[in-house]
Amino acid sequence: MPPKKAAKKVEEEVPKKKIKVPQLLRGFRDIMPEEELYWARIEEVITRIAQDYSFNRIRLPILEQTSLFERSVGKGTDIIDKEMFSFVDQSNNKVVLRPEATASVARAYIEHGMIDRPQPVKMWYEGPMFRHDRPQAGRYRQFWQFGLEAVGSKEPIIDAQIIIMCHQILKELGLEVVFQINSIGTPEIRREYEMELVAYFKQFRKQLSDIDKKRLTKNPLRLLDSKAEGMDELKIDAPQIVDWLDDNSKEHFMKVLEYLDEMEVPYELNPFLVRGLDYYNKTVFEILPTKFEGKNANAIGGGGRYDGLIELLGGREGTPAMGMAMGIERIVLAMKHQEVELPNTRQVQVFFCQLGDAARRTGLRVFDNFRTQGIPIAEAFGKGSLKAQLELADKQGARVALILGQKEVLDGTIIIRDMESGGQEIVDSAKVVEIVKKMLK
Ligand code: HAM
Repeated sequence: MPPKKAAKKVEEEVPKKKIKVPQLLRGFRDIMPEEELYWARIEEVITRIAQDYSFNRIRLPILEQTSLFERSVGKGTDIIDKEMFSFVDQSNNKVVLRPEATASVARAYIEHGMIDRPQPVKMWYEGPMFRHDRPQAGRYRQFWQFGLEAVGSKEPIIDAQIIIMCHQILKELGLEVVFQINSIGTPEIRREYEMELVAYFKQFRKQLSDIDKKRLTKNPLRLLDSKAEGMDELKIDAPQIVDWLDDNSKEHFMKVLEYLDEMEVPYELNPFLVRGLDYYNKTVFEILPTKFEGKNANAIGGGGRYDGLIELLGGREGTPAMGMAMGIERIVLAMKHQEVELPNTRQVQVFFCQLGDAARRTGLRVFDNFRTQGIPIAEAFGKGSLKAQLELADKQGARVALILGQKEVLDGTIIIRDMESGGQEIVDSAKVVEIVKKMLK
């Protein structure tokens, strides 16, 4: 019997099982290690500047009651009507992966009695948010936000301070941006203004898109945000909310602008900026990158005052607040588009090369001695050939390579190679850290 042939036949008969590789959900992404340099830089800058201005970090849960956002962001907004990742959990609670964090900050402020702390309570946060939006460049279903919230002060300088901080953060990151700013006054004047707006757009009802027709009754302010064809022309003659502002809102707005002028924040007045969330009043703003993408650039961030939210959620009447959030992916995109150079935070100085098993074992200790002395060292313990290891040392820009072989382990020595000149010397392994330190000075 020819066994080889029989075995081959069996192989042919059993088709190889195709394994389906699990894939990312649409609109979700892995932030790959290559991108980490950007994220680390952004996080370093935001943490430092938030601290400089006495904003303290709050870490909020990702899952919240659905009603928290329905009440604060508001029914009739895109986020609530279309984009919530909500579900009923095992305890029959209606819960949602948070679409934003301002409502959570307001909930936490009330829940922990922060009204009894010195006001305003200044907090910052960073973390993933979830919106079931239509994915496209710069728009994801899971995205990260960094946010600042100051609860408990109605002073216009707080509005300005938050905008100034955004400016400083983005400037330090090397980005060119412009702030668009508007005031949407009080809920009372907004109701009057909305009636006027509806009356104006009703004249052109036939020209409006289906979505904009719905907005006429459901959320007229959003008509101003419409990107539908022909709307830009219609908007030109539309009534502008600034003409409806009450004296207090007007004065507040003027003060905010004065402070921004003082700090030379580049802003444009945008009478049609209304934002897509219901809790705002008075100051609203958005941050746009200037150097690319033109008119349809994705906003890097946005925010405004929300003086009614704490009360709406059951907190003390009239507790004012102001805040903003930036999208981290959008900052990264802008940094890439604007070709921002990242500071090289960890340039490898020393590369450790080993040959043979004993050298690997001893090498673990050598590597650790350099690391604990704060000397940036790299290695390739998984490689065997010296040539390959030296190539890596060169590629990573190391100034010095350490070479440890069987003989050196036995002698208690190690070879130091100057990567530029190629010169080598054999030194006592107990003194290698001190010798290399001197060479690197
Ligand atoms: P927002 O304008 O909805 O405001 O979001 C702020 C920023 O988050 C946007 O400017 C954008 O950079 C980023 N962002 C939003 N949606 C997406 C998405 N689908 N993909 C990628 N990035 C996105 C808020 O969330 C308010 N809570 C801001 C605030 C804080 N207002 C007062 N305090």
